[in-house]
Amino acid sequence: MFDIAEVRRDFPILNREVNGKPLVYLDSGASAQKPQVVIDAVTQAYSMEYANVHRGLHYLSNLATDKYEAVRGKMAAFLNAASEDEIVFNTGTTEGINTVAYGWAMPRLQAGDEIILSVMEHHANIVPWHFLRERQGVVIKWVDVDSTGALDPQAVIDAITPKTKLIAITHLSNVLGTKVDVKTICAAAREKGVAVLVDGSQAAVHMPVDVQDLGCDFYAVTGHKLYGPSGSGAIYIKADRMKEMRPFMGGGDMIREVTKDAVIYNDTPMMLEAGTPGIVQTIGLGVALDYMTGLGMENIAAHEDSLRDYAVTKLSGLNWLQVQGTTPDKAAIFSFVMDGAAHAHDISTILDKKGVAVRAGQHCTGPLMEHLGLPATCRASMAVYNTTADVDVLIDALELAHDLFA
Ligand code: ALA
Repeated sequence: MFDIAEVRRDFPILNREVNGKPLVYLDSGASAQKPQVVIDAVTQAYSMEYANVHRGLHYLSNLATDKYEAVRGKMAAFLNAASEDEIVFNTGTTEGINTVAYGWAMPRLQAGDEIILSVMEHHANIVPWHFLRERQGVVIKWVDVDSTGALDPQAVIDAITPKTKLIAITHLSNVLGTKVDVKTICAAAREKGVAVLVDGSQAAVHMPVDVQDLGCDFYAVTGHKLYGPSGSGAIYIKADRMKEMRPFMGGGDMIREVTKDAVIYNDTPMMLEAGTPGIVQTIGLGVALDYMTGLGMENIAAHEDSLRDYAVTKLSGLNWLQVQGTTPDKAAIFSFVMDGAAHAHDISTILDKKGVAVRAGQHCTGPLMEHLGLPATCRASMAVYNTTADVDVLIDALELAHDLFA
């Protein structure tokens, strides 16, 4: 296990104050803070090593290309993909899911074909499928979660019909913290010839991910949640599915040859990476992956599990607070509403005065909010650098908010 004090020293922003109070950052579900090694790598890349990739024959272009391409292997190792050719770089999970929607689903799905989603999906894993519903008559089928926020994998499997072409499902809810048994879903889907896309935006941050063990076809992650730069990300596309991909965006880099009346596309994964990519962002993401694997994903998960247990005990002592999502193995993500309280935005404003950063609102999960019957929640989401002391400050700030609003 790592030394949490040392980990905290790696993140310079944690030394600052907000509203005259030490920062307690509990909004990593929205975006994680960056360790100094990532900040330094970005500075170094722009200061001394910057040029475009895949294009030049000069020293700096080759250096930038080597550094950029090395991240493909790091991401493949991080997700345990069979090959780095199964990794497509992008700006994050939203682009990754849209790549599958436009590059795989649109050319293949027809009116009446079905896509299964859980009710706790993020809008990034809903709206691209609405495009197919609106434009091609594809049917979206929704699977509910139970009162604890658990998703029964059998309910997803039971929703499969001969018309089902895709299951698009989160691995870890950004609101409830629920972990989904994706492996069981993938095994059943595979038998029935149904593809599975996993939104790993939150999960890959908090626990080891092995895409081969999960058996999924697509696994999308985002760099800014993985302690890397914003505007970086990747999607794993299993080799068999990669062969089925059509180009999504057109432009430079994704082509081999262009004439006035023809185009020959590049091989995958480059075929799916049009235009100048997020060069420095991706290089920074590689350093973030090194940082996480250096700490050990098992260690990160163990640290966050103990934080979760501490927070569950403390929060359950506040009988005027209702935490949404109570599965025992959930991630340290706590969405809540307060008895008699004002809107979640008002609670978060009080917390902010105490230096506590949380997110308030719908968290890009309209259907889940409808399912919960809530207009909004406050959400405290934890990460590798949080401590039980952070939880204590949160509890004190919540008590203050309750005193003010009750
Ligand atoms: N998906 C991010 C969140 O849950 C932005 O806050």
